[in-house]
Amino acid sequence: MRMRRKHNLEERLSVCVSSGKLWEYSPDIDELKNYGLVYGEVNSVLPQNVNDIELEIGCGKGGFIIRKALTEPDKFFVAVESVGNVLVTACEEARKNDINNILFIRTNAKYLPKLLNRGIAKTIYLNFSCPYPKKSQANLRLTADTFLKVYDYLLATDGFISLKTDKPEFFTYSIEQLSAYGFVIRNVSLSLHDDPIGKNNIVTEYEKRFSDMGFPIYYLEAHRKI
Ligand SMILES: C[S@@+](CC[C@H](N)C(=O)[O-])C[C@H]1O[C@@H](n2cnc3c(N)ncnc32)[C@H](O)[C@@H]1O
Repeated sequence: MRMRRKHNLEERLSVCVSSGKLWEYSPDIDELKNYGLVYGEVNSVLPQNVNDIELEIGCGKGGFIIRKALTEPDKFFVAVESVGNVLVTACEEARKNDINNILFIRTNAKYLPKLLNRGIAKTIYLNFSCPYPKKSQANLRLTADTFLKVYDYLLATDGFISLKTDKPEFFTYSIEQLSAYGFVIRNVSLSLHDDPIGKNNIVTEYEKRFSDMGFPIYYLEAHRKI
C-alpha cells in the first residue's frame, strides 16, 4: 500500500538539513547520464572527529538507528534512505530527542562512495531490505552486485554486514550473492527471536510487523575474508 505524502514534506526536510541532521544527495543530470561509481572522489559529509561509523541502509522511519544511537552514545551512526516521506519521521524524531550521533542521508545507497570514505564502516545494517521478488527488479535488491561493490568499498577490514529479513527467498539470494562475492557468512539464524544470537536484538518497525504476524526472522553476518 502506497503511503500518503506527508504534509509540508520538503519544508520539513529542509529544516532537518539546516539543523545538521540530514544530508541530501542526488547526482546532477550530467552525472546521471555518464553514471558510473567514481571511487575515490570522496566528499566526506561527516563531522571532522568521526573516524568510523555504523551504517544502516534503508532505515525507513529510523526506529532501529535511533535506539542504537541512544544506547551507544560513544559511536557515530549514519542512516541512509532514498524516500523522504519516511526519512522525515526519523530525522524529526532525532531532532526531538536531541540525538547528535546520527547523520541521516537521503540518497540512493549506490551513490555512497561519493560521500563517505573508503573503509569507514565497522558495520553495515541491512534490515528488512525490499525483496524485489520479480527477476526484472533483481538489480534493485540491496544485495545485488552493484550494492556489494559499495559495501566492499565502505567496510573496514574487520567490518561486517548484518542482515535481517522475514523473506526466505531474499535470504537465500543474499547468501548466494554474498558468498559469490567472497564474504564469509557467520552467525546464521533461521529464527532470530528464539536464538541466543538475538539476545541484544533491536526490533525494527518492519520486524515488529512481520514477527507479530508469526513469521520467523532470518539473520546472518557477512564478514570479509581476512
Ligand atoms: C522494507 S523497508 C524497511 C525499513 C526499516 N529498515 C525496517 O526494518 O523497518 C526498506 C527501506 O529501504 C529503502 N531502500 C530501498 N532501496 C534503497 C536504496 N537503494 N537506497 C536507499 N534506501 C533504499 C526503502 O525506501 C525502504 O524505506
